[in-house]
Amino acid sequence: MKKIPFALPEIGEREIEAVTDVMRSDWITTGPKVREFEQNLADYCGVSHAQCLSSATAGMELLLRLYGIGPGDEVITTPYTFAATANVIVHTGAVPVFADVCGEDFNIDPVAIEKLISPKTKAVITVDFGGLPVNYGGISTILRDKANLFRPSANPYQRGLHRPLWISDAAHSLGAVYGGRKTGGLADFSVFSFHAVKNLTTAEGGAMLYDRSVWENADDIYRGLRLMLLHGQSKDALDKLKAGNWFYAIELPGYKYNMTDMSAAMGISQLARYEDEILAKRKRICGIYTEALAGVPSLSVPILRDGLRETSYQLYPLRLKTPNIELRNAVIAGMSEKGIALNVHFIPLPLHPYYEKLGYMIDKYPTAKKLYESEISLPVYSRLSEDDALYIAEELKKTLKNLEERL
Ligand SMILES: Cc1ncc(COP(=O)(O)O)c(C=O)c1O
Repeated sequence: MKKIPFALPEIGEREIEAVTDVMRSDWITTGPKVREFEQNLADYCGVSHAQCLSSATAGMELLLRLYGIGPGDEVITTPYTFAATANVIVHTGAVPVFADVCGEDFNIDPVAIEKLISPKTKAVITVDFGGLPVNYGGISTILRDKANLFRPSANPYQRGLHRPLWISDAAHSLGAVYGGRKTGGLADFSVFSFHAVKNLTTAEGGAMLYDRSVWENADDIYRGLRLMLLHGQSKDALDKLKAGNWFYAIELPGYKYNMTDMSAAMGISQLARYEDEILAKRKRICGIYTEALAGVPSLSVPILRDGLRETSYQLYPLRLKTPNIELRNAVIAGMSEKGIALNVHFIPLPLHPYYEKLGYMIDKYPTAKKLYESEISLPVYSRLSEDDALYIAEELKKTLKNLEERL
């Protein structure tokens, strides 16, 4: 039986060579490759600053901490995301406040954000679900309109804000476009993930991107983040090891969130072929699914592009037109019997025991609930052949038809 996994990492001979070159060099941890990858990412996304680190999770947490967000504060985010987005808020001692999603595109609803902004709101973390950009224009207007409610603390970075901090959890959306611009410079900060199943992978890794046009003090922010992501030390390991350069100072109790040069070498190699090979292939696979499935009466195919935006094709979130957990689960089980792995993105956070125990209730987020009860993610990766994509779509149609007759 043919076996089709849900995800395979984007590793080819070029990545293997790039990593072995670093292993054969005299420097394997944070060094010249990380700096080169940062520059390439900033150039690709059209922003002035990029800082690599060990994960997107680490990046979001660092940003909340740099801006002094903690106990007594609220951070608005979506319940329809991976736990990392809300966990980092919990780590700081602040309270995650969930704003329901819009529907069709799975993304946070700007109107729901507007209703939740209060003097306690210190930040908003939006998520470009599956790679499709959020309504950046709508969210930006709401944050501006509600700026009078913002009460900054004494934290010097927070004092420089005139409204809540806006972090885009862009874990999925490298290469996605909104209003003719790539994600990366559309919120105050954008945080990308290079985890093993992401479009571009460094095995584990992430990057925070931001732009001088948003931040007059971008260089100051750069220094603050760089200190925080490596122990709060005034020099990185490469600098410290230069002859005679042994002295360093710990300026604050920083974290250990740096990226290695081996990871960065993988990233450099993938970014060089990202647009033309990786994204292009993912787009073709998603196109095959849409062509094969758009006419099935009980299915809704996802928005991949509209007048304003285009996804990065990280996920293909197909939906049953009518939410039906039993049928959805049976489709996934039936496909798994045929050797095809499907998935669900996401289990909304209020359904996870930790968040449920904190008192969050899924019924308060009816759109997230409906999406969860209908979503089926199909495999998308550039190592998947176009024939296999067609095979998946055809098998899905058969499985669904059989189940609909039975259930
Ligand atoms: C929406 C979202 N945000 C954040 C993350 C965390 O990324 P990382 O594993 O790089 O910390 C993920 C990971 O899957 C994600 O899906």
